[in-house]
Amino acid sequence: MTETVTSPPLGSEDGGRPLREWLARNRRENRVLWDDSTRACQVFGFAETQQMLRDPQTFSSDFGRLAPAPQGEAATAADGRPVPNLLEGHLSVTDPPRHSKLRKLVSQALTPRAVLGLESKITEITSGLLDAMAGQDEVDMVDGFFNPLPVTVIAELLGVPASDHAMFRSWADDLVSANHDADAVDAERLRVPERMNALLLQMQDYILDHAAHRRRAPADDVLSRLVAAEVDGERLSESEVFTITLMMLLAGHISTTLLLGNSLVRLDDNPAALAALRKDPAGVPGALEEVLRFSPPAPLAYRLTTRDTTLGGVDIPADVMVASWVLSANHDERQFPDPETFDITRSPNPHLSFGHGIHFCIGAPLGRMEARIALTMLLERCGELRFAEPPVPYTSPTVLGFKRMVLSGPVA
Ligand code: HEM
Repeated sequence: MTETVTSPPLGSEDGGRPLREWLARNRRENRVLWDDSTRACQVFGFAETQQMLRDPQTFSSDFGRLAPAPQGEAATAADGRPVPNLLEGHLSVTDPPRHSKLRKLVSQALTPRAVLGLESKITEITSGLLDAMAGQDEVDMVDGFFNPLPVTVIAELLGVPASDHAMFRSWADDLVSANHDADAVDAERLRVPERMNALLLQMQDYILDHAAHRRRAPADDVLSRLVAAEVDGERLSESEVFTITLMMLLAGHISTTLLLGNSLVRLDDNPAALAALRKDPAGVPGALEEVLRFSPPAPLAYRLTTRDTTLGGVDIPADVMVASWVLSANHDERQFPDPETFDITRSPNPHLSFGHGIHFCIGAPLGRMEARIALTMLLERCGELRFAEPPVPYTSPTVLGFKRMVLSGPVA
């Protein structure tokens, strides 16, 4: 227990190599690192990350306890209106028993049958986006493909206009960049900065306008079901309807966008894997699992201790934030043989990139299907992969992936 490097290199720099090396060094020294001076806890091991994620009684997701909702002036925007509280109704930051009830509600929108029913729609959207790229000299794949595909799917599922996708992307980028300068292990990063108040109100007005419309004229979409739903005999509050919809809208596209970009970068780095997939596209689902393991879109998971506990033999006090490196867990040599090798045939591949336990990603089947269809069709229609410029990574510690990725003549 010696090394206490508290500032990791930026996530996506040089394909994530410096960050992976930094994590490997820390993992060798400490599977769990508690730094008494900063009261910060970091987890590097697979077994320890898994243990944390499957024990919500000890490792809570209710960050409101540490960073309570803003009060007084901080709770009011410049125009005097109350600022929406993003913690209310947000599944990822809610503990049982409320979590179980809200999750049941949200999972009704994403049943295996509902997701399977989306296959032809996803194929149609993908085909349209690829057609729009045909013959262009250069295309930013994030803007032109990786973002609009999942945004269109989730917007249609929710019942908000897919044509507003550019605005949803800018909301997501603004929320991600709010974390830009933050320390990866700093609990304060989970607060939305006050300068974001105007943006929160804009998002709330937009979503609640659509919700009011659905109340008057219900349709076959999630928003209509949310405004009519009851939990414990009570309708959801306006604030919960807003947060659940926003959470699905953002969670429903950011990670899939990042996964698709990470796939291209990994395949560009591994020409043999790319050639194998072109020859046999049946390997695409396995390849995507390996991309998820190697470069998880969400490289960190945060929890808050509710009591004194021990993890990986290290004592951790109550009421501290634990930052668990999913990226490190996915490269833990005790779990994955030869973890630094990108192996699209790796099996089993029990990566933690969709989480683990009660908060396991509710949209995993949808994300997997979107990425499978997109990558398969892209490989069919795209000639050589030629990057016109180096892909531009996000610099926030909480996401791993690229915001811009320009290819030369991707589709003939
Ligand atoms: C490849 C794509 C995706 C990845 C890598 C991903 C990753 C994750 C991870 C790691 C978590 C767990 C967070 C935690 O433990 O605190 C999560 C939760 C969640 N994801 Fe995804 N996600 C993806 C796609 C989607 C999609 C398409 C949806 C769409 C509806 C979605 C909706 C959610 C929701 C609602 C939660 C919260 C679940 C809960 O707390 O009970 N995700 N996701």
